Amino acid sequence: MKLTLDDLKERTDRVQVDDIDFDDFRDQPLDPESLRCLRYMHDIEHNTIIYLRDVLVTDAHLDHEITSFLTFWAFEEYFHGEAISRVLEAHGEPGSDARVPVVRRHTLHDRILPISTMLATHVTHQVPTVHMTWGAVNEWTAQAAYGRLAAKAGHPTLTKLLHRIMKQEGRHIDFYASQATRRLEGNRRAQRVTRWALKQFWTPVGAGIKDRVEVRFMARHLFGDPDGRKAAQRIDRCVDRLPGLAGLHLAERSAL
Ligand SMILES: [Fe+2]
Ligand SMILES: [Fe+2]
Repeated sequence: MKLTLDDLKERTDRVQVDDIDFDDFRDQPLDPESLRCLRYMHDIEHNTIIYLRDVLVTDAHLDHEITSFLTFWAFEEYFHGEAISRVLEAHGEPGSDARVPVVRRHTLHDRILPISTMLATHVTHQVPTVHMTWGAVNEWTAQAAYGRLAAKAGHPTLTKLLHRIMKQEGRHIDFYASQATRRLEGNRRAQRVTRWALKQFWTPVGAGIKDRVEVRFMARHLFGDPDGRKAAQRIDRCVDRLPGLAGLHLAERSAL
């Protein structure tokens, strides 16, 4: 499916939570593992704006279609973080206002990333292609992770919320994947650079801001059992369909 800018203008919205009764979580709390996943998901949703910074220092900022999408995308991701914050708060945990300043701190990774993406732009014209492909992989992973969490937690109110978030992630997938396909198709150099970048540097969403123990926990909890393994293989099949990117097995390898 090809999303147009008009589609995005029409359909971008904050995820609807007006009819979600967050008090359900007080009566029927989530298990500790699901809450641990939600803390992670909250933190990465609210880190979207930092990812945006690292994309905008590249030539991607010259492309009106990309910058328009990123505007809508950052807005929707922000409200995914806010919705998850409501779930955490219903469990007596700190919400976004308290969590975000703790997560968003100066790290070597945080200092180096914008500089390295900016420098990469001077070495190759393929950086926007890498970003669009990277974005597609991350959105496929995020959507699958929400689906796995809904299945594992078995909490109807959480499922209702996560399915709404997943629907919006689906639109993000449409944009990134169609951009990646268009840029990779028939362009051997773009395929070579993107394949190399993913193989060398791709890590599961959140690996740059969460510590290794949490990244490992998420991979094992959501993708480590037979159903999770199938979900990881589905992500890899989506990547395989992008021109020149078959056989990377990014998701399945990270779930091992
Ligand atoms: Fe999201
Ligand atoms: Fe998304």
